[in-house]
Amino acid sequence: MKIAISGKGGAGKTTLAAAMAWLLARGDEGHSPKRVLAVDADPSPSLALSLGIKVPPDLVPVCEMRELIKERTGVTSEGYGVFFKLNPSVADIPEKFWVERDGVKLLILGAVQKGGGGCACPENVFLKNLLSHLILQRDEVAVVDMEAGVEHLGRATVKGVNALIIVVEPSLPSLETAHKIKRLASDIGMKVAGPPPTKGVFAVGNKLMGPEQIEFLEKGLRDIPLLGCLSYNPKIQEASLKGRASFEDNETLIKETRVILKKLEEALGRG
Ligand SMILES: Nc1ncnc2c1ncn2[C@@H]1O[C@H](COP(=O)(O)OP(=O)(O)O)[C@@H](O)[C@H]1O
Ligand SMILES: [Mg+2]
Repeated sequence: MKIAISGKGGAGKTTLAAAMAWLLARGDEGHSPKRVLAVDADPSPSLALSLGIKVPPDLVPVCEMRELIKERTGVTSEGYGVFFKLNPSVADIPEKFWVERDGVKLLILGAVQKGGGGCACPENVFLKNLLSHLILQRDEVAVVDMEAGVEHLGRATVKGVNALIIVVEPSLPSLETAHKIKRLASDIGMKVAGPPPTKGVFAVGNKLMGPEQIEFLEKGLRDIPLLGCLSYNPKIQEASLKGRASFEDNETLIKETRVILKKLEEALGRG
């Protein structure tokens, strides 16, 4: 199973990604523990913090490994421009750079900020190839924490994604971003999820304070199916202040994530 998580900045992508990855790896209520690869593809990576994983101080996001990217893409600068391979080898990268805790293997990709997602610079080509490899060629469960878009996913890669989950807060800007992401996903061939068994775009609500807000979200999401919600939970903020895993000592978050995973499995036809 491959899950990609997107949504407006601050909506709770990283919190949800960490809780899902941890719960899937731990195994739960009749589910056997899975091998889980958590992938941080956000320009400001923070999934390690949310997972409670200490990253060695000298480990930089893969997108900043200039020498490696140069070597693999064979960048050369000639006369009129820069030439490099469009299909660099990446198969050995995950094992080399992931950091593991509680059965979750975390790979920090980062993102290329300058030039935007469409830029065909060596860094972006390398990252896209790596993500495509993780999704299409590896057999772990993958949970990918992305930015507010689907920049890293191309048409070929998105075919391997079972669920693109958009995290939404009960606010109009958050809903607006959700529909924008839905359109971007549709442009590369992933539609909103239909009746099960299905794959596609789903939503998860976050920071909810009561049933009226769930109603507000359901209405505003229109055709995007809402898998479930996480309630507003000060313990999550507390954990991020103290640098602890968001799910540590947080039964509410664990319970709510469990419900979301169950709904997802049902929707995907694996329930
Ligand atoms: N359910 C929640 N209740 C309260 N605070 C939350 C909740 N989910 C996330 N937060 C807080 O909101 C901020 C953004 O969450 P984060 O998961 O980092 O969002 P994103 O990855 O989408 O930018 C963090 O400070 C986090 O602690
Ligand atoms: Mg984040």
